[in-house]
Amino acid sequence: MDRIKVISVFGTRPEAIKMAPLVKEMEKSEFFDSRVAVTAQHREMLDQVLSLFDVKPDYDLDIMKHRQTLSEITCSALKGLEEIFIKEKPDLVLVHGDTTTTFAGALAAFYSQIKVAHVEAGLRTHNKWLPFPEEMNRKLTGAIADLHFAPTKTAKENLLREGVREERIYVTGNTVIDALKTTVREDYVFRNDVLNKIDFKRKKVILVTAHRRENWGEPLEQICLGLKRLSAEKDVCIVYPVHLNPAVWDTVHRVLQGLENVILLEPLDTDELHNLMAKSFFVLTDSGGLQEEAPSLGKPVLVLRNETERPEAVKAGTVKVIGTSCESILKHARILLYDQNEYMKMAGAVNPYGDGFASKRIVESILYHFGIRRERPEEFEPEG
Ligand code: UD1
Ligand code: UDP
Repeated sequence: MDRIKVISVFGTRPEAIKMAPLVKEMEKSEFFDSRVAVTAQHREMLDQVLSLFDVKPDYDLDIMKHRQTLSEITCSALKGLEEIFIKEKPDLVLVHGDTTTTFAGALAAFYSQIKVAHVEAGLRTHNKWLPFPEEMNRKLTGAIADLHFAPTKTAKENLLREGVREERIYVTGNTVIDALKTTVREDYVFRNDVLNKIDFKRKKVILVTAHRRENWGEPLEQICLGLKRLSAEKDVCIVYPVHLNPAVWDTVHRVLQGLENVILLEPLDTDELHNLMAKSFFVLTDSGGLQEEAPSLGKPVLVLRNETERPEAVKAGTVKVIGTSCESILKHARILLYDQNEYMKMAGAVNPYGDGFASKRIVESILYHFGIRRERPEEFEPEG
């Protein structure tokens, strides 16, 4: 039979990190004709990932504009992707997660009457404003998708509750853990010399990232104030690779630049970030991806949000959702810094999100769906 023609669509840093292992897995298989279309909703931050994982897009819409609006991204991605789909007529379009590229990709495929598979399907907070606009992006994408690759059982249950037919859902684990397994090394030497100079034995390194839209403005000001006060604690070193979004970059630099014990960096290559995380004491973040990666490295995570769509590591005890107030950040960070029992309770390595074989399961599920493989792949089961 003909190979299955798949176009993988992505546009931002986290989508690229999580789709790269899957693209590589499809490239290895004789059953796939695999193409990649990037919207480049992100530019520099996307290119970093493409280069690290050696993914060469067949199409690059290059849509990023500075301070772009949601409707600008939606319109240009929708139009550009539809043209590609009409020309290529793939059997399947793969989209990932919950960005505006994800939703526009699914919608463009639907308009072109092409099947859609959603990777990292079924995450929910059940609050349409949190995170904004991601909760709605993933719900709308889920409504269009024909195949749902849910990373966990909880995500599958969310989809079942919304009436998605069980045979369309595959529990695969999250491909971010596939990526992480290729990057973290005990003997890793950073390319960035600032990182090589940090004394990880003497300092308690706190890795920080924050960029979410709902945190722009006052919440981000509060986060930065919390970090400023935290930087005065004994033996602390705060390392913050700052998202290039000017709404984030400007605030963070205004409040934190030049402070002793605070290192502000440009976005790091993903292997540098992963290895920095592996050497850190704990993580403060509003990112989705870091909430999934840090538990598998045994690093406690304080989540700078009011709700999370990733409850598994919260249940396992390695992640706490602490909001964005300066006082809450200080309180919870000090507990981790000075209460060894509490620290140890949160620092056990757990892997609720994946085992490194998510891409393999997704490829097998597609083959099963198209009748090339007989048995339905086993579901991902977290250890323990
Ligand atoms: C986007 C996603 C968010 C995801 C995040 C990951 C949407 C609506 N948001 O948010 O779900 O968690 O990416 O990082 O899809 N910029 C650059 N260079 C880059 C990237 C961004 O300069 O490589 C600047 C540009 O000025 C751009 C702005 O950041 O306009 C915002 O980018 P955008 O993709 O709209 O939003 P993010 O906050 O990055
Ligand atoms: N990341 C990176 N460099 C950085 C910060 C983060 O490579 O400087 C990686 C991180 O390891 C994770 C992903 O980017 O895999 C998270 O992306 P982001 O925080 O932009 O988006 P989110 O996860 O919130 O959607």
